[in-house]
Amino acid sequence: MTTLMESGSHPPSRAVHVFAPATVGNVACGFDVLGLALEGPGDVVTARLTSEPGVRFDAIHGDGGRIPLAADRNAAGIAAAAVRALAPSDAPGLALTLHKGLPLASGLGGSAASAVAGAVAADRVLGLELPAGTLLRCAGLGEREGAGASHLDNVAPALLGGICLVLGGFGDSGPGTTGDDEPAVVELPIPPTLAAAVVHPHVEIRTRDAREVMGDKVPLSAAVAQWGNTAGFVAALYREDLELLARTLVDHVAEPRRASLVPGFAQVKEAALATGALGASLSGSGPSVFALCDGIGRAQAVGQAMMEAFRTAGGVEGDLHVSPVARRGARVVPSAPRTEP
Ligand code: HSE
Repeated sequence: MTTLMESGSHPPSRAVHVFAPATVGNVACGFDVLGLALEGPGDVVTARLTSEPGVRFDAIHGDGGRIPLAADRNAAGIAAAAVRALAPSDAPGLALTLHKGLPLASGLGGSAASAVAGAVAADRVLGLELPAGTLLRCAGLGEREGAGASHLDNVAPALLGGICLVLGGFGDSGPGTTGDDEPAVVELPIPPTLAAAVVHPHVEIRTRDAREVMGDKVPLSAAVAQWGNTAGFVAALYREDLELLARTLVDHVAEPRRASLVPGFAQVKEAALATGALGASLSGSGPSVFALCDGIGRAQAVGQAMMEAFRTAGGVEGDLHVSPVARRGARVVPSAPRTEP
């Protein structure tokens, strides 16, 4: 745990606790444009008002002391400051506590969850009620600090829940402004039995490093296959057609470049498919691997097979999360997680 001593006197104020969930970025066929939210794990940011200007951290828990406490150097702080900048100039300052529920460099959308929780906590405690598009942009600024680039494929489902398609980029015009790069999010339908199994092996891959192996060129044949699958995936969701969905869950762009970074990846994916998964691939930039399945029972079996393959082929233990696609994204919760004394 990293802590900062209390300084100065602050007006008593209600603390607001906001949870934001883990997410699977890319979802195999949608590099940088598709993401989905998971039930269960996530990050929580507690925000309260202070008489000191700006944004500061009281504490960060659950990160092993690795996340900088300086508010301008971590995802939650930058996102909260971007929201605070949209408040009236005489608005109070913010004191934040980050409860890191997601492991660092895991491919579970940890920096997006921190950024979204920071943005929404700042918004709620300041009583701004900013539109979702503005919160998305503020959280995107935070994500850029945490992951080296703004990955709205993680930020959008962490904020809104469900399965999201992100259109448009993220330019330099700043939060709350409009411009050619204004992102748009399409919230896609969730087939009722769709469930996810995600295994987080106990190794780390920094998103920055996983992006370096991408290069900047995609062969035309791979691009054609990928955009066919992306479009087919969207159609399959609207039709609730899991056979079509299975056919589309193939990544021709990122997985071929990144698979070798994850110990035992080929065997883990093979184990998922052999156990009846609709498809499996890297979760975001890895090392976590996700599988989509028809039903929670199938997802549980697939997850166990993936865990075993990580153990035997990759020589690494992992944690398994099995859940439906989370319909809810970031939300105010009654309290923060308990922390060690
Ligand atoms: N779409 C991003 C990537 C997500 O794959 O690099 C990062 O988790």
